[in-house]
Amino acid sequence: MINIIHTKSGMQDEVARWREAGLSVALVPTMGSLHEGHLSLVQQAALRADKVVVSIYVNPSQFGENEDFDKYPRTLDDDVQKLAQTGQCHAVYAPSSMYDDQHSTMIVPAGAADGLESLTRPHFFTGVATIVLKLFQHVPAHSAIFGEKDFQQLSVVRQMARNLDLQIDIIGAATVRDTHGLALSSRNHYLSADQLSIAPQLYQQLCIIAQRVRQGDIQELVIADARRALQNAGFDEVDYLEICDAVTLKPVQNNLQTPIRILGAARLGATRLIDNIALDETDALA
Ligand code: PAJ
Repeated sequence: MINIIHTKSGMQDEVARWREAGLSVALVPTMGSLHEGHLSLVQQAALRADKVVVSIYVNPSQFGENEDFDKYPRTLDDDVQKLAQTGQCHAVYAPSSMYDDQHSTMIVPAGAADGLESLTRPHFFTGVATIVLKLFQHVPAHSAIFGEKDFQQLSVVRQMARNLDLQIDIIGAATVRDTHGLALSSRNHYLSADQLSIAPQLYQQLCIIAQRVRQGDIQELVIADARRALQNAGFDEVDYLEICDAVTLKPVQNNLQTPIRILGAARLGATRLIDNIALDETDALA
């Protein structure tokens, strides 16, 4: 039986009891509408902690005005059922609200938050960092697991934990994909059958970029080709395709010695897809 907790004090008390009993605790923050990607994070959490908490909260402060906050899927009963089936989740934290009327303090990250997602969603990481810090206060876990699917988010959270001396280990977990390579995402539900057949091209183009950069092709040409290929495949807009230092997320030009991440975001109709891979990731085209 999974304990579903709705209040901050209820959650803090439960974690305090576990910690007093000498048990380790891991948190998996989510916005619900759970899929295999989320469940893989639960699995990772269970490998490193005695107790696993999954938080489910659709955080208004990370949505822009014209984004999908209202229509974002809210499926708590289904989500709890999926978590129960894993046998690895001990509590679901599902607060009804995380902000009171007087809320007026936000965390504004720079560094890893600059560029990429922030180019089109300038307030996104402020919303994410603020809610994640609040969740860490409500669920004072030893570790928290985040997906590499949202690599810039993982980097921003790591940076915040380091900069603000948070006493929590931030753990990254590999991206779960469907058989065509499309990264699982709650937003994939918005795609039509036609769009679903186009969507895996984003991952495929990231793999082609990685392959060509490894061969020593000129980065600007490689990126321009991939951008054109995505547009030809039917993407309506390519927001960015970038080759970045995997820690700072700053663009790299010639130095391929540091770990490199290739990140992309593109729109199919009203749906925005993001994905990323490591330069040396074994890819689907090998
Ligand atoms: P959400 O989009 O629900 O994602 C929750 C976690 O699941 C994130 O760490 C995300 O990177 C991870 N995830 C999503 N799809 C994945 C996939 N295909 N493979 C592996 N992991 C995947 O990210 C958020 O919610 C929010 O911004 C949140 C951190 C909860 C703050 O509100």
